[in-house]
Amino acid sequence: MNRNNLFRLLPALLLLLALACAAGCAGRHASASAGQQDEGVLLVAFGTSVPEAMPAMEAVDRDFRKAFPDAKILWAYTSQIIRKKLADQGKKTGGISEGLARLAKDGVKVVRVQSLHVMPGEEFSALERAVLLDIKAHPGRFDAVYLGRPLLESRADAEAVASAVLKDAGGVRGKRDAVVLMAHGQEHGRAGLVFEGVRRVFTEKDGRVFMATVEGERGIGDLLAELKARKVQNVRLQPLMLVAGDHARNDLGGDEDDSWASQCRKNGMRTTVSLKGLGEVPGVNDVWIRHARESRDDLTKEPKKK
Ligand code: CO
Repeated sequence: MNRNNLFRLLPALLLLLALACAAGCAGRHASASAGQQDEGVLLVAFGTSVPEAMPAMEAVDRDFRKAFPDAKILWAYTSQIIRKKLADQGKKTGGISEGLARLAKDGVKVVRVQSLHVMPGEEFSALERAVLLDIKAHPGRFDAVYLGRPLLESRADAEAVASAVLKDAGGVRGKRDAVVLMAHGQEHGRAGLVFEGVRRVFTEKDGRVFMATVEGERGIGDLLAELKARKVQNVRLQPLMLVAGDHARNDLGGDEDDSWASQCRKNGMRTTVSLKGLGEVPGVNDVWIRHARESRDDLTKEPKKK
């Protein structure tokens, strides 16, 4: 083809290109909005019956509604004891199966189940099992059920949460000051290494951050030894948990002799306790929201063959 022919053809080629693009873009928009209308988000937490812990839940709810404006958003609590307590007070929150049934009834076809667990431990495994069993009991009910992973799994997650928590704890602190974070943890070291990885990322960000668990491998004994070795004088204690519920109010900041605050004071430290759940710390919910958006783990389908 000579140059003249090419120039004659150019407008036609450009027109073709524009048409193809318009068709492609329109197609994408149409399917995206159709997808959003029948999309649902099920937020799953252990639950709390402590009224003072509710602001964290409310903040999570508000942020998810902002992030998924067209989706139907529901909550599920996995603790039967807490669900019963709340029901007795006339405040009803269902479990996972009830939440999924409700979403199906409302015509939702694509569900995003988002774990509000902090680390992938026992509760998260139970959540995954419950969703899988529910799908098995009601085959074909949803087109897809995506599982959103807990808050802290990757290095990027830990860095984002560390930045948010440290910023919220406020400014530069003195050499003898420390921020002490209480994670939950559990027996048999479930997620124990995830905790150690998170601890390392937090400590790299700021050497005055110390962490231990209330029910896991690294306990208050290890923490006190470390604080004493570092000659810490002032500690700010706060929970590394979704809400500041029973553990934060009793095991961490309570008046009993064995609370972390009491034990720090017994060892000559001055203490302040921040009763704020992670859900209330600005920036933290963005990580859970990112996990909900990015999940490709559709529990209704076999894993892709590789
Ligand atoms: Co507990």
